Amino acid sequence: MTLRTARKVVWTVLVAAGSGERFGGPKQLARLGGRTVLDVALDTALAATDGVVLVVPESSMESMARLGCIVQKGGATRSDSVRAGLARVPSDADFILVHDAARPMASGKLYARVIEALERGELAVVPVMPVVDSLKRSSGEVGLISVSRENMMVAQTPQGFSASALRAIHAARLDTTDDADAAERIGIRVSSVSGEAHNLKITTRSDLAVANALWEIGVRGIDA
Ligand code: C5P
Repeated sequence: MTLRTARKVVWTVLVAAGSGERFGGPKQLARLGGRTVLDVALDTALAATDGVVLVVPESSMESMARLGCIVQKGGATRSDSVRAGLARVPSDADFILVHDAARPMASGKLYARVIEALERGELAVVPVMPVVDSLKRSSGEVGLISVSRENMMVAQTPQGFSASALRAIHAARLDTTDDADAAERIGIRVSSVSGEAHNLKITTRSDLAVANALWEIGVRGIDA
């Protein structure tokens, strides 16, 4: 069952080929609500879109073979992994979402918000949250320099693109921390939708503990 009206063909490239260096191991296999981070992220992507390309390290290709999705070997950087996944998305896709498996708490509603913006004609869509902390920039001998947080936002995934825009973005072979950055650099306008406070990126063990605590009180990726 999909969580949206099926008008356009929408695929997700779910990237899970990182080494989890800061986490201290493959975080996609860490436990979230009794399952793995990867399974939780995959379930939401499968429910919210028409197809998923799951990008994983070469060493886990076999064990990750999942019914209902294409499994692809990742690359050295996140951008390489997205490109590898993108190459496997069928040519009839209208929209392609790129999502970090490290964000298993993204809800089906967030996917729907991104897809709705694409259906309105946006070429590149990013979920954002306002910055709540004070910001400082490190400036060598001068010390810290404060930066206004007005108009500053934190970017999340899933980020959505018209299929042709995402293919053009990655034909440029840029190496960026997210796809919206690459879109901007080749002159594609990026628009925003509201992100989700619980859509945290699991980077450290404490992030995983927070995600499990949210899970305990009923916050779920699919229907949060
Ligand atoms: O490294 P970072 O935290 O930015 O990774 C974000 C997402 O990109 C994670 O889900 C990670 O598994 C994925 N990734 C990847 N291939 C890489 C590096 C990161 O699929 N080479």
